[in-house]
Parts: sequence; C-alpha cells; structure tokens
Amino acid sequence: MPISDDKIAEVRAATDLVAVIGDTVRLKRQGATRFVGLCPFHNEKSPSFSVDAAHGLYYCFGCHRGGDVFKFVQDTEGVGFLDAVRHLAERFGVPIPEDEADDADRERATEAEALTAALRFAGKFFYRQLGTGEGAEALAYLRGRGFTDDTIKAYGLGYAPDRWDALLNAALEAGYDPDVLERAGLVIRRREKDGFYDRYRGRVMFPIFSHTGRVVGFGGRQLVDDKTQPKYVNSPETAVYQKSRVLYGLYAGRQEIRRTEEAILVEGYTDVLAMHQAGLANAVATCGTALTPDQVQLIGRYAKRIVLLYDADNAGTGAALKGAGTVVANLGLDPDDEQATRRMGVGEVLKKGLMVYAVSLPPGDDPDSYTKTHGAEKLREYLGTHRMDFVAFARRAAERAGRLATADGQAEVTDELLDVVAALPSPLLQQTYLKRVAEEMDVPTPSLAERLEQVRRDPRRRAAAPAVADATLRPEPSAPPAPAEIALLPPERELLVLMLEHGDPMVELVLGHMALDEFTDGPARRLAATVAEAYEEGPVERDGFLSGKYGPEAQALVARLLAARPVVSDGWAKEGANVRIDADESAKSAMTLLKTARVDAEIERQEGRVRVAAGQGTDALEAEQRRLMALHTLRREVQARAFLHGDA
Ligand code: UTP
Ligand code: MN
Repeated sequence: MPISDDKIAEVRAATDLVAVIGDTVRLKRQGATRFVGLCPFHNEKSPSFSVDAAHGLYYCFGCHRGGDVFKFVQDTEGVGFLDAVRHLAERFGVPIPEDEADDADRERATEAEALTAALRFAGKFFYRQLGTGEGAEALAYLRGRGFTDDTIKAYGLGYAPDRWDALLNAALEAGYDPDVLERAGLVIRRREKDGFYDRYRGRVMFPIFSHTGRVVGFGGRQLVDDKTQPKYVNSPETAVYQKSRVLYGLYAGRQEIRRTEEAILVEGYTDVLAMHQAGLANAVATCGTALTPDQVQLIGRYAKRIVLLYDADNAGTGAALKGAGTVVANLGLDPDDEQATRRMGVGEVLKKGLMVYAVSLPPGDDPDSYTKTHGAEKLREYLGTHRMDFVAFARRAAERAGRLATADGQAEVTDELLDVVAALPSPLLQQTYLKRVAEEMDVPTPSLAERLEQVRRDPRRRAAAPAVADATLRPEPSAPPAPAEIALLPPERELLVLMLEHGDPMVELVLGHMALDEFTDGPARRLAATVAEAYEEGPVERDGFLSGKYGPEAQALVARLLAARPVVSDGWAKEGANVRIDADESAKSAMTLLKTARVDAEIERQEGRVRVAAGQGTDALEAEQRRLMALHTLRREVQARAFLHGDA
C-alpha cells in the first residue's frame, strides 16, 4: 500500500473541491454548496455538470461521469489515482512522507511525473541563470523590454546559457536520467557519438504552463538577433506537452478570463506577458501553432467570448497569422492556404458556443508595443471601441482583398458568411447574424433568409464545412459505459443512498431484509451487489465508492445518486442517534415501497394468468386464483412490515 488510507483521507479533507474543479470549469453557484457548469468531459451548451461541495463529489447529468476530487484530477490530468492524490497533496500542502512510497512505487512513478519533475528543474535552472554573469545580459534584455522583476518571477522567465551542456550537466548532477531529459524535450541525443546536448542555448526562456499550472515546455527566444537562426526554439511535443491543448498565459490568466468571460487571443509570448503585466490578464496565445478545436474548447471552459487581437499588418491576410488568423481562414479569405482545412473556422468556434470578435491594431503596432506606448487603459478602450463581430471583420477583410469589387464576388462572400450563419448553434443566433450579414453586405434580410435555406440544403456546402470532432476533449478518461438510461425506482435509489451514507449498520438493515433481485436488474442491482461485496471486505464507505475503489460504474452511479441529495446538516450529525432513527425509518419505508412494487408487478402478471386460465377449465383457474390470493396476502404482510419481524 503506497499511500495509506488515512493519508488519502487527510488529502481529501484538505482539498478544496470547488477550487480544483473551478480551475477547469466555470462554475456558477446554485445553492449553499452546489455549483453547476459546462461539463468538461463532453460538449454541451447548457450546464448539466454539477458539483456538490458538501458531499465532495461531481456528477454530469449529461454524460454520467462523476466521482470525487481524485477522479476529477485523474480524468482531467490523465494521471492515475496515486498521482492524483500526490498532486492534490502537493497543492494543498499535505506532506506525504517518502517512506509511504516504497521503491517499487517510486520506480512506477509515471512517465508524466518524471518528465514534469525534469521540466520543473529546468525551469528553476533557467530562472536562476538570470542572476549569473552570462544571464545578466538576459535580465537586462527583459528589463529593457519593460518586464518588471515581479513579472519575470511570476512567469518564471529565465535564460539558457550559451553552452552545449549547461542544463545537461546541472540536471545530471541533480540525479536526473538523461533519457528522461531527452523525452522531456530538454536535451537532444547526439547523432554520431554517445551523449546529449542542450536544446536551448543562449536564449531567453519562457516556460509554458499547462492550464493546471505545471511546466510542460519552453519557448526560447534569441537574445541577439541572428537571422541565420530561428527567432524562437520551442519544445517538441512530449508525453506531457501537446501543443494543440495548451495556451500560453491561460494558467496565470484563468481567473481574469472567468471574471470577464472573455479571452483575448494574441500572437506571441511577449504579447501575453505585456498585457498581463498591464492588467489585461485575460490574454492568451498559442505556442507557435494554429488555433485548434481543443484550444477553443479549453477557452470555452472559462470564457464566453474570444477576442482575436491582430497586428494591423496581418489582418485579413490570414497567412502570417498563427493563432488568430486561423479562425478566419475558413471564411475563404485565404483560399490558397492549404492549411486552412486543418484550421478552425469561425463557424466551428461559434458552434462550440463561443462568440468571436476581432480587433485589429493600428498599423505598426502589436499588443506588446501598443501597451508600452499607450498604456493599459488605452488598450482596454481600444478593445472596446474597435471590436468587430465576425461579419464585419470578414467583410472588411474581403474588401481589402478586392473581393467586393464585382457582383459575383459579393455574392460569393455573402454565401461564405451564410455558411457560417447556418452553422450557428441556435435559431436565435442565426436570426441575429442573418440581420448582421444583411446590414454588412447591404442585401435585404428576406432574400438572405431564402438564400440561407438554400445554403442549408446544399449538400456540397455542408460537406465543405469541416466537421469538428467533439471527442477531442481528452483521451477518453476511464469512462463509465455511459448508461444511456439508468432505471432506478425512487425507493431503491433511497436505499442505495442510505447504505452509502450510513455504512455498515444500514447495510445490515437493508441487505438483511432485501434480496438482491428485488433491486432492478442492471446498474441498481449491480451496485447493491457491490455494496454487499464491500461489506464482506470491510466497512462500507462512500468515499471508497467515490474514488473508484469499486470500479468506474459504481463510481459514476454513486456520484449520481449523491449529487441530487440534500445534506444532513452538522446540527443533525451531532445528534447521531436521531439521524439514525430517521434513517432507519426511511430505510424501512423505502423497503416497504420497493417490496410492494415488486409484489404489485407480480399481482399484475398473476391477474393475466387468471384471465388466461378462465378459458381452460375450473381446476386451472382455481389454482391461479389461489396464487393470486396468496400474493394479495403477501402484499398485506409487506405493508404491515412483517418482513422486518422475522428475525426479531
Ligand atoms: P513574433 O515574431 O511576433 O514574436 O511571433 P514575439 O513573441 O512577439 O516576440 P518579440 O516581441 O518579437 O520579441 C509570435 C509567436 O510566434 C511563435 C512564437 O510563439 C511567438 O511568440 N514563433 C515565432 C515561433 O514559434 N518561432 C519563431 O521562429 C517565431
Ligand atoms: Mn512581438
């Protein structure tokens, strides 16, 4: 046993479930201890994901995933149970003594953990270099660009010395395995001879954080301009770094994004930093790649709107743009761009329920330079006054490209816009934007509405719109076989909950007086059977069910059962005896109801048999009638709760 149950319980107690889930899901309070939000595990427009702080669980009524805080971390971080415990222990300051992790376990520490440790080491190493002789130049460079020491520290900026083995040697000395360093993207294996060399040399380092705050990679910028070398050297994709799922600045900016419900997408690391430092902490950037559906989805967990902030030079060309431009590419503004099909169109973003706006900066400015010359207030103001919806933006871009000069060109652009409108998720939005297209393209709305119908029906057009895979969220976490429909009768739901909430004595009361086959065949009966097994092994505890000790199906179902359950208040809990009496009474009446329902069903079947027998002679009929009478007697006994007194 690598981490004791006591320790796990301690970590659970120290953990703030709402804070942990809140990092990933924009939660809205709905009652003292209940929160709702958009499910991070499936694509949805209205929130069916619920967090129950009092019970320490979450459950999605849409996709039926649920569990406790450990399960959440497992599924969102793609780690195992023990790693989830360690991760939360670290975050909430619960020390886990090393001797609780035996050697074999340490060896088993996942690849992700090993890489993360190496990356964290590298981040610290690069940061420390700023204080050295060689690093002084890098520090001066960063300060010269206007970054304060606070920013440098908070974002962990650093410097990679201009040597082949600076990081390599420091890491080897600290006991890191060179193969791990290589797999983390920090060093490169020499081709001819043995050994490795540093990937980043003589560069200003920008650590890239996952949305949960782990260093997953780096961007390294030239300290001195050298056209023969790439301006940035970026980490390769690794087991912990998938560029399509990471946004620079998201971790630091997540609170501000949630508060403003808006993410501002800029192009570069330095743009993000300058804006964050100026108080516009909702700026994010892709890391040298095109914006992907995964990233849009990620933003969608925190924000309702994406604002694409462009350099004026790039606006409308789509070609030079890495992040922002990609979103307009599919509007057909850049038909020669063969990447366009792999990129995300505005329609796709809108389909994910996010509104898109674009702002292009005055010629010659990027967000970094604009903030530095005009200040944060001016940029904020500019963002407000120069905001265009995608219709206005697309029209302007088309105009610049000379596409509106002819009637044919105009019709073409209009059709492209209607394609996007047709993809909008709600009829209301479609109406709104149809009007906007009418305004921008100067076409009467009714004729546009007709055209929209044609566009909708045209299969060629529909095929042209790239489908966005909804399953791009996560490498499907240990998904419970989503029970499409869980048939649970109210009394059996009650009984299962009571057993989970009150443990062994309640299990004895309930399962001592119920047969397993009195529970509905399927999930309900399987859970009852699992409770019985758990009882055999040791005390029945809901936390064990919630953390997946009894498998994903039980985990999800228990989360579901408990999610909708009112909390027993502390005052009640203190009067334990009273609660028990109440709970016992609830159990007894639920058992009575369930048994009655079972007998009633049997009575109905028996009545059918009586009707059939009526045509078959008196003997058969009498026999069936006797059985029916017996069932009615049984029903009365059940109602009188005779089943409880058998063992009295
Ligand atoms: P920029 O050239 O605008 O760089 O590229 P920047 O971050 O604004 O840096 P400064 O302000 O010129 O110092 C924008 C982004 O494109 C990616 C990086 O993510 C960069 O932040 N990029 C650029 C690369 O990945 N590789 C490159 O060689 C250049
Ligand atoms: Mn720049």
